[in-house]
Amino acid sequence: MQPLPTTKPIVLVTGAGGQLGQCLQTLVSQTPHLPYGFVFLSSSQLNLTCPEQVEAVIQQLKPYAVINCAAYTQVDNAENEPEAAYFTNATGVAYLARECAHCNALLLHISTDFVFDGCQNTPYSEDHPANPKGMYARSKFEGEHLALRFNPHTLIIRTSWLYSPYGKNFVKTMLRLGLERSELRVVYDQTGSPTYAPDLAIALVHILGFREQIQEGQIYHYANSGIASWYDLAVETLSLAGIACAVVPIQTHEYPTPAQRPHYSVLDTQKIRSHFNLFIPYWRHSLQSCIAHL
Ligand SMILES: NC(=O)c1ccc[n+]([C@@H]2O[C@H](COP(=O)([O-])OP(=O)(O)OC[C@H]3O[C@@H](n4cnc5c(N)ncnc54)[C@H](OP(=O)(O)O)[C@@H]3O)[C@@H](O)[C@H]2O)c1
Repeated sequence: MQPLPTTKPIVLVTGAGGQLGQCLQTLVSQTPHLPYGFVFLSSSQLNLTCPEQVEAVIQQLKPYAVINCAAYTQVDNAENEPEAAYFTNATGVAYLARECAHCNALLLHISTDFVFDGCQNTPYSEDHPANPKGMYARSKFEGEHLALRFNPHTLIIRTSWLYSPYGKNFVKTMLRLGLERSELRVVYDQTGSPTYAPDLAIALVHILGFREQIQEGQIYHYANSGIASWYDLAVETLSLAGIACAVVPIQTHEYPTPAQRPHYSVLDTQKIRSHFNLFIPYWRHSLQSCIAHL
């Protein structure tokens, strides 16, 4: 583990090697004078499925807050190995939440738009009934329940369609394939809100400061403003990057995947914007920032 930082309240970030974890690390390294000491632990340093390790780390750090970016995120593989998805996304989250409760730590737990079945055609609010399809989505929904049940000081932050300069994501895949191929076929009948993980990282750090003013045990939705299909996102990505590759719109049935995905998973972000006085950037503007960065 890294040396313990100063006397500031400690914020532990799990899954620090993932794309959101890395975005938080970049944000913290570029933001002097944050009133917290951050500890970033990757899966090899803190494995959520190991209760002894979770207990030892949390008891040693006694964090003010934990931002749980750790997750089993291979949506299609989860269909073949549901136990692995559940172990990290549900059981592991319960271990983490239980230890957070012991030391009164705020748990910011990241969840997903995939908890919805996609049958709606207006943005999903937090109190809309979930109906997850597929093993990944079910494991994440179960993780929400367990986080709230084992630690009263939990906020669930659901987000959607994350991309960033780090790790594997749709935007980076389009940039790579766009250079390799003359044509890409991309589904246009799934609609959501692409979300730039560095924007979410800023929001998460912002929310930490509201602990004393907010009611805990709540669910919030965070996604960039506006909506898009995967086709729209691909076209915009290639256009911003100046890559001359044709993008052909196709339907979901033309690109079958093991896991079912919601046709519509736009999240209503009114609650998080008003409770935390947050400005959320428009997805095309954030995509511009990402492409400029890459
Ligand atoms: N990506 C999306 O489009 C999307 C959309 C909506 C919601 N979300 C949610 O947003 C959060 C962050 O996603 P992300 O895109 O940053 O995911 P990511 O890049 O896949 O990162 C997840 C991290 O979790 C780690 N991890 C996996 N199993 C673990 C375990 N048992 N214990 C500790 N760490 C473990 C992984 O480490 P290894 O690589 O070493 O296994 C990886 O570093 C997740 O909760 C995800 O469900 C993501």
